Amino acid sequence: RGERTRAPDSDGVRRLPLASPTARFQPSTFTFPTEIGCFSFGPDRVAQQQSRAELKYYCEPDPGCNLSDGFPDRFIQRAPTAEHLDALLECLDDVNATRRDLAKEPIRPALCTWRGIMTKIMCTPYSTRDEWQLNATLFKGTVFLEEREEPEAAAAKYGRSDRDRLFTYWGYKFESLATVPVPPSQLQPDDPVLRERSAQVVDTNVQFCSVFRATLGKHDMVLGGEVDCLIREPRPDERVQNAYAELKTNRVITDPRQQNSFEKFKLLRVWAQSYLAGVPNIIFGFRTDDGRLSHTKRFETAELPRLVRGKPGMWDPNRCIAFAAECLTFIRDAVTVDDRRTVYLVRFNPSALAVEIHPAETDSPRAFLPGVYLEAKSV
Ligand code: A3P
Ligand code: MG
Ligand code: MG
Repeated sequence: RGERTRAPDSDGVRRLPLASPTARFQPSTFTFPTEIGCFSFGPDRVAQQQSRAELKYYCEPDPGCNLSDGFPDRFIQRAPTAEHLDALLECLDDVNATRRDLAKEPIRPALCTWRGIMTKIMCTPYSTRDEWQLNATLFKGTVFLEEREEPEAAAAKYGRSDRDRLFTYWGYKFESLATVPVPPSQLQPDDPVLRERSAQVVDTNVQFCSVFRATLGKHDMVLGGEVDCLIREPRPDERVQNAYAELKTNRVITDPRQQNSFEKFKLLRVWAQSYLAGVPNIIFGFRTDDGRLSHTKRFETAELPRLVRGKPGMWDPNRCIAFAAECLTFIRDAVTVDDRRTVYLVRFNPSALAVEIHPAETDSPRAFLPGVYLEAKSV
C-alpha cells in the first residue's frame, strides 16, 4: 500500500479509512520513551512541577479486603473542569527553560498530548465501535491534541448513578490499598502506615504524572500520563521508569469466555497505555462481584503481546503502531494553519470506519492553548 493522497472530500472533510486486517498500513516503529520531566497534583489540584511527591510504592494489599470500604463518604472525585493540556505544557516549558540555561535546543515535538489520547488512537483498529473526538491546534510547529468533550457530557459522567460511581471507586480504592508513601522495605510489619492505607480518603485529584519523549514512525512526541506507583526502589544507576507500574482491577475470571474478553479488550488497553509511557510492569487486582479483592497478579507489559499472539480474534501490537503512525501523518498533513486560535476537529467515525479531519475553525471558542504558553521563559 503506497502513500495515499488525502485531499478533502466535497464536504471539506478529509478521511483516513481504517485499513482492514488484511490490507495493513506500512509497518512502523515506536522507540522506548524517555522521561524528560514530571509533576504531582495534590488534593488542591495544583501541579507541582518536577515533583515526585505523589509517586507511591506498591505494597501487597490484604487479600479479601473490601474495595467498597469508605464509599461514598471518603471518596472525593475530581470535578469536571477543563484543564486542557495546561500542566503538561507548563512542564514542557519548564524543561525547555532548564535546557536553555544549559545552552541546549528546546524540545519542539511534532505532537504533544496526554498519553490517554494516544492510547485511544492506538486501540482504534480493535475498538471500531468507540467514537472519539479531538481538538487539534498547530502552534509553532507542534500539533497539540486534546479530547473534545461537550461540558454537558463531562458533567453527565461525573453525576452518574451510585452504582457506576462505586465501580469507579473500586479501581481507585485498589490503588489506595496497594500503595504506601515510602518503600515497603522501610516499614515494620505493624507500621501504622500499613493500617492507615485503608482509612485514607480516596481523592482522584491526587496524581503523579510522567512527561516523556518518544518517536512513533517519523513523529517525535511529548506525552504526559499518570503513573500509578513504583514496584520497587529504583537503583541509582537506572532510569526510574524501570520501576514504574500500572495498577488495574478486573472481575475474577471464572470461565473461558471471560478470559477471552479479558485478553481481547482489557489487556489491549492496558498494554497500549503502559507501552506508550514506558511502564514495564502491570499489577492486576482481581475482585469479586461484590467488591472484595481476591488476589493480585503481575504482568510485564512486554509479555502481553506474546500472551495473545496466535489466538483467534486477538490484537496485534504492530497493527496498533502502524495505524497510530499513519494517523499522526494524516493529522500532521491536514493540520497546517499555525495559529493558537485555530482548532480542527479530528474524529473517529465508527459508522464510516474512518478518521475524519474537519475544516479548520479560525478564532475558535474551543481554542485551548493557554495565552502565556511559548511566549515566556523558554523561547
Ligand atoms: P480500573 O481501571 O482498575 O478499573 P487507571 O487504571 O488508568 O490508572 O485508572 C484508575 C481508575 O480510574 C480505574 O481503575 C477506574 O476505576 C477509574 N477510571 C479510569 N478511567 C475511567 C473511565 N473512563 N470511566 C470510569 N472510570 C475510570
Ligand atoms: Mg492511574
Ligand atoms: Mg491504574
